Amino acid sequence: MKQKWWHSAVVYQIYPRSFMDSNGDGIGDLGGIISKLDYLHQLGITLIWLSPVYRSPMDDNGYDISDYEDIAAEFGTLAQMDELIEQAKRRDIHILMDLVVNHTSDEHPWFLEALKSPDNPWRDFYIWRKPAANGGPPNDFHSYFGGSGWALDEASGEYYLHQFSKRQPDLNWDNPRVHEEVHAMMNRWLARGIGGFRMDVIDLIGKEVDKQIMANGKNLHALIRQLNRATFGKGDYVTVGEAWSASPEDALLYSAEDRDELSMVFQFDHIKQFWDEHAGKWRSQPFELSGFKAVIDKWQTALAHVGWNSLFWSNHDLPRAVSKFGDEGEYREASAKMLATALHCLKGTPYIYQGEEIGMTNVRFDNIDDYRDIETLNLYRERVEAGISHEEMMLGIHANGRDNARTPMQWDTSANAGFTSGTPWIGVNSNYRDINVTAALAQPDSIFWHYRKLVALRKQHPILVYGDFQQLFAEHLHVFAWLRTLDDQTLLVINNFSRERVMLKLPQEMHGWHGECLIHHYAPRELLGSSIELQPYESFALLIGR
Ligand code: GLC
Ligand code: CA
Repeated sequence: MKQKWWHSAVVYQIYPRSFMDSNGDGIGDLGGIISKLDYLHQLGITLIWLSPVYRSPMDDNGYDISDYEDIAAEFGTLAQMDELIEQAKRRDIHILMDLVVNHTSDEHPWFLEALKSPDNPWRDFYIWRKPAANGGPPNDFHSYFGGSGWALDEASGEYYLHQFSKRQPDLNWDNPRVHEEVHAMMNRWLARGIGGFRMDVIDLIGKEVDKQIMANGKNLHALIRQLNRATFGKGDYVTVGEAWSASPEDALLYSAEDRDELSMVFQFDHIKQFWDEHAGKWRSQPFELSGFKAVIDKWQTALAHVGWNSLFWSNHDLPRAVSKFGDEGEYREASAKMLATALHCLKGTPYIYQGEEIGMTNVRFDNIDDYRDIETLNLYRERVEAGISHEEMMLGIHANGRDNARTPMQWDTSANAGFTSGTPWIGVNSNYRDINVTAALAQPDSIFWHYRKLVALRKQHPILVYGDFQQLFAEHLHVFAWLRTLDDQTLLVINNFSRERVMLKLPQEMHGWHGECLIHHYAPRELLGSSIELQPYESFALLIGR
């Protein structure tokens, strides 16, 4: 496998609206991000995935873009964006812009033109169909944000497709003019000095609408190769595609080096497995380790030698890692560190979602009016109207709603967690007096310093980046463990995913393994006897000496 600089990098995701507000309007902004670059540099990350900051009516917090080449006024200016790119670079950090080209905002000039009439030259930038025989939508395709995926344009009597909100009309990727515009826009961003792109719902761009094949359409990979050739393929850029539909076989198509597509994709098997078969994320299944292990093992194995994994527990659409996979109560610190160890000791590029490095938790607002996310609000309305109780829906929202990850970053113990001097656009999690950056920096054994150590270890030890993965104790109910091997080195990684003390019997060949304990958060470990007793949520990685 040819080595790439981003194999050993760690990415930090910023959700700008919730990161840091510099002017007291209650909304995070570019000035706020710039003011925290030293903090990120201290963590050691070298890439930032910046969720959208483009001009937008903010129907979906910026994933509805009305101008790809300007910055939303509430976030700042293009000059500040240039400054952010520049200031980040001085700290050896590159910025990945969020590329949202499955759809635009309904306020994008292309769509405003398209609305003017069926023979407008821009009409074909979007996807229009005549009504069904009964006058209703062309088919029963359902939007991910609730309701029909077709919206009626009264003036023409035609419907347009929107897979997300009706204010996010889908672009028509069967139209080569769309390609030209998107390619040119991407090249202008690359010329501004960014490090690459995170590509929003990229698996949806090749859709075959009339067959109702929305993800993984027949043109998908050809379109991505074309994007690569026309734009980022010309330089040493990082690209990560969001692909909810990806199987390991698909991921190989996206990320195998000789395919000239993307660096890697986000897949969501480890997330979706805790969703309900019918109610999806709105009826959460409890975390269960054996299925989780099987899924991680499957992906580690499938992309072992070709392609590349992205590694993440959380993002702005998902619950908080420690709440979902760990213990947000008594063992919050231990389980957050264990999850960090596990993530950084797998093969792939790790992503840290803002606040994860201090163990931020899910939020539980009692009142639906305290939520801001369009998906949460729409689906609450739709499902409660369909007869599901308020209580049941709130359980689902508390477990999996997107606002869990969108409450403001908790910087200190001052009002609003130091995020804003004004009124925050969404409530701050009430636990900010205990969980905040200032406290974490002051405590030498905090979650933050554990993350920092892991980020640094990946730069020092190629085995963490390139070592082969082999699961151990696959049948164990509480322990997720594996070996990484590279040349004559072996790294043993053990994670206790439970609040139990676990007596782990070691196979004969592991007796007496000792070496350098690269990371731990109880006592440093060696395998002296025939078993070890693991503490609740203990994790460690032991580099075996020869
Ligand atoms: C992606 C984004 C999500 C957004 C959706 C539509 O899944 O991560 O936040 O709502 O695409 O753009
Ligand atoms: Ca602001």
